[in-house]
Amino acid sequence: MSDRPLALVTGATAGIGAEYCRQLAAGGHDLIGVARDGVRLQAMAEELRARHGITFTPLVADLSADDGIAAVERAIAERPALSLLVNNAGFGTTGTLVSSDPAAQRRMLVLHVDAVHRLTRAALPGLLHRRAGGVITVASVASFLAAGGNVNYCATKTWQRVYMMGLAVELKGTGVRAQALCPGFTSTEFHDRMGFDQRGRTPAWMWMPAADVVRTSLDTLARGGPVVVIPGAVYKTLVFLARHLPLWLVERLSRTYRRDRG
Ligand SMILES: NC(=O)c1ccc[n+]([C@@H]2O[C@H](COP(=O)([O-])OP(=O)(O)OC[C@H]3O[C@@H](n4cnc5c(N)ncnc54)[C@H](OP(=O)(O)O)[C@@H]3O)[C@@H](O)[C@H]2O)c1
Repeated sequence: MSDRPLALVTGATAGIGAEYCRQLAAGGHDLIGVARDGVRLQAMAEELRARHGITFTPLVADLSADDGIAAVERAIAERPALSLLVNNAGFGTTGTLVSSDPAAQRRMLVLHVDAVHRLTRAALPGLLHRRAGGVITVASVASFLAAGGNVNYCATKTWQRVYMMGLAVELKGTGVRAQALCPGFTSTEFHDRMGFDQRGRTPAWMWMPAADVVRTSLDTLARGGPVVVIPGAVYKTLVFLARHLPLWLVERLSRTYRRDRG
């Protein structure tokens, strides 16, 4: 039995989730890593065990399917000592709502909404019992926008942000923390998996390294900072504008952006 704190990270094989695993392991956490690719999970386990001497339990599960979510719920219920849940797994799609694959849209709704709710609900009794620890959900700056070509992505990321904000209200005074991390463009596999060359369309200064995004998240959680965390001055400014410009102007800019993308 280890006396190290235990964290569960979904989407542990790549990008932001892999970076959470690396930084939490460096900080002395044991880990449960969840993703669909068992080979990559095993490689991550070996890397982190060798480098940091921690325990990494790979858990292969598809969180866009009911049985995958149920398997992770069970893993959480079996470990009441879990101190941090990171709901990170996610993906984007291209194309308009009517042109994109309906099955992929349904998978997004399950992964971004149902899985986040069920895993959070499964973790809360243990966290509340120990009056410590937290839940982080990786939402997006897209949660402040409504963009063509990203209808369900923006809608589900908004749900994630508002869910964590509401949860934080309920957790006040319990010792348990909630965070909605809202990154902008982050260098990961995300856009390649979408098959969308966003890098060619977006200036280099808009891209953040996953390590910086995760460091901001974990530092803010540790010091009991705000619930909604937006890494980077550029994105703080964009979100400020999106929230304070008149709605008609935001709608007009969104339509222009859509036309620019063709
Ligand atoms: N990159 C950005 O610009 C950006 C910006 C804002 C927010 N975000 C958010 O950040 C989060 C992480 O994205 P990322 O950029 O790190 O993307 P990524 O590099 O593509 O990594 C996605 C991770 O999620 C896992 N995953 C995907 N579908 C899954 C499923 N059905 N079940 C279980 N695991 C699944 C993948 O592993 P397997 O393939 O092995 O399952 C992988 O580990 C997402 O929620 C995304 O919406 C990203």
